[in-house]
Amino acid sequence: MEFVTYEVEGQVGIITINRPKALNALNSTVLEELDKTFDDVDINEIRALILTGAGEKSFVAGADIGEMSTLTKAEGEAFGKKGNDVFRKIETFPIPVIAAINGFALGGGCEISMSCDIRICSDNAVFGQPEVGLGITPGFGGTQRLARIVGVGMAKQMIYSGRNIKADEAYRIGLVNAVYTLEELMPAAKKLAAGIAKNAPIAVRNCKKAINDGLQTDMDEAIVIEEKLFGDCFESYDQKEGMAAFLEKRKVEAFLNK
Ligand code: CAA
Repeated sequence: MEFVTYEVEGQVGIITINRPKALNALNSTVLEELDKTFDDVDINEIRALILTGAGEKSFVAGADIGEMSTLTKAEGEAFGKKGNDVFRKIETFPIPVIAAINGFALGGGCEISMSCDIRICSDNAVFGQPEVGLGITPGFGGTQRLARIVGVGMAKQMIYSGRNIKADEAYRIGLVNAVYTLEELMPAAKKLAAGIAKNAPIAVRNCKKAINDGLQTDMDEAIVIEEKLFGDCFESYDQKEGMAAFLEKRKVEAFLNK
């Protein structure tokens, strides 16, 4: 692949968007390579993913403005769909995805981070949806996910003003869960991913699905979604081992994803 790298460390996969000359901006090729990279993740082996950007300056500086500059209405809509399809794949990916945001997360960069389950960032990170300054709306999910994460009022202010915010403000409004120095960011992301990876994988996957699917519906339906996914864990090897270990006052030997 030209712009996306994938490495495996134990049960954690690390996906890096690697187009530093354009601050990791998302052109069609990057989107296609991301799509393929996620398709190729072996979810029987990998239990958590980290998504980050190459270099020390930028996570992702947005969708590629050069590529978008000449699009027609229909092409613009298709480009939006292309990004949205990949980001929805990330959002609904069976295993958790942690965004390790190492610098600019603007436009499509902020949007891809919001399709991840968990966001942590470095103290040089900058977030924003600057699209209205370019004559467009956020087009890779920003008008939908930002309000769901930080609330409608703050999302509207950020999107209408196009104003960027720094890491400390992103933390204050709940856009990121934690801020680290740039040096500490990847170790922190790996520690978080390893902490997830050591838990029972079927249970973690079902938690992600229950939270995501439940948020799309009302509470009466949501708790039924939970009941089904809770029930689904029973009779698994990992449920039996997890509970037996507790009752026998010993550590879990291993969760085997079955
Ligand atoms: N698209 C294409 N190229 C980009 C880019 C983008 N989004 N962001 C940065 N680049 C390129 C620059 O054109 C530049 O390339 P050249 O060296 O060939 O000129 C290179 O990356 C380095 O950028 P700068 O020289 O601008 O670096 P800087 O440190 O001075 O500024 C920055 C950094 C503030 C992030 C600035 O690059 C910037 O404002 N980028 C655009 C941010 C933006 O508006 N993002 C939203 C895009 S629209 C979108 O994402 C729509 C959507 O929702 C789908």
